[in-house]
Amino acid sequence: MSVLTHPTPVAPVRTPSKRTVLMCRPDFFTVNYRINPWMHPQNPTDTSLAVKQWEVLYQTYLDLGFTVELIDPIDGLPDMVYSANGGFVLDGIAYGALFTYEQRAAEGPAYMDWFREAGYTVAEPEHTNEGEGDILLVGDVILAGTGFRSDIESHQEVAKLFGREVITLNLINPSFYHLDTAVAVLDPSPAPGEKANIAYLESAFDEPSLKILRERYPDAILVSEEDATVLGLNSYSDGYNVVIASRALGFEKQLRERGYNPIGVDLSELLLGGGGVKCCTLELRR
Ligand code: ARG
Repeated sequence: MSVLTHPTPVAPVRTPSKRTVLMCRPDFFTVNYRINPWMHPQNPTDTSLAVKQWEVLYQTYLDLGFTVELIDPIDGLPDMVYSANGGFVLDGIAYGALFTYEQRAAEGPAYMDWFREAGYTVAEPEHTNEGEGDILLVGDVILAGTGFRSDIESHQEVAKLFGREVITLNLINPSFYHLDTAVAVLDPSPAPGEKANIAYLESAFDEPSLKILRERYPDAILVSEEDATVLGLNSYSDGYNVVIASRALGFEKQLRERGYNPIGVDLSELLLGGGGVKCCTLELRR
């Protein structure tokens, strides 16, 4: 008689990679206009708490061995803390942001000045786009969001500029207005031959986009509404360590099961502006 054994699945070994990111201290953070459903200008914000919480994220990155560059915050630009929207940087080229709303317009040139001074080749944008908020590098392809902020024309601009395949995804839920609120990139630098994986919220996308995601990422982590609603997907991974919203407990468990090391950070104050971990993080790729 043969005995059939069912080996318990073993989570793959994940390898962290060193990252370089750009952040902006929220010295002038507040909510005094409303450009997404999270923002309620009538409710008070606590700027010093925002700074304290942001510093924990900053220190977490330093402890992980990341290089963290800083851009000076500008008085009157309360959303500048969300550096992910400042551009999209790949192959030493910084594609500048062109913001949807007037309230953030001045951030575009401010970030481009920083990129120039840091030695990046700046590509001035022709079309509305909010940087890495809507443009995510996943392995060799770029996932690009549209529906609320970035124009679809910017996706073509990105494809031409970087010579990579760009996949347009349509966002349909105003609470998940940027792609980085609905998709998490789990493997920023996959080893040659290895596929980069993602996590996402299914209900954030229209049917054609969902079809693409299901076909391309059959092993993706599907995150619950509950975790997405604390901006759990708005996370930043080095391939092993995944910095996430500390309140995203389900996502934390899912990550652990897949062999990642989730690290929870509380950015409750910055959530009042509609942003989380990833929003405060812009990846710099030389
Ligand atoms: N208040 C900002 C806005 O609505 C939040 C930006 C969040 N950033 C992000 N990458 N999702 O524009």
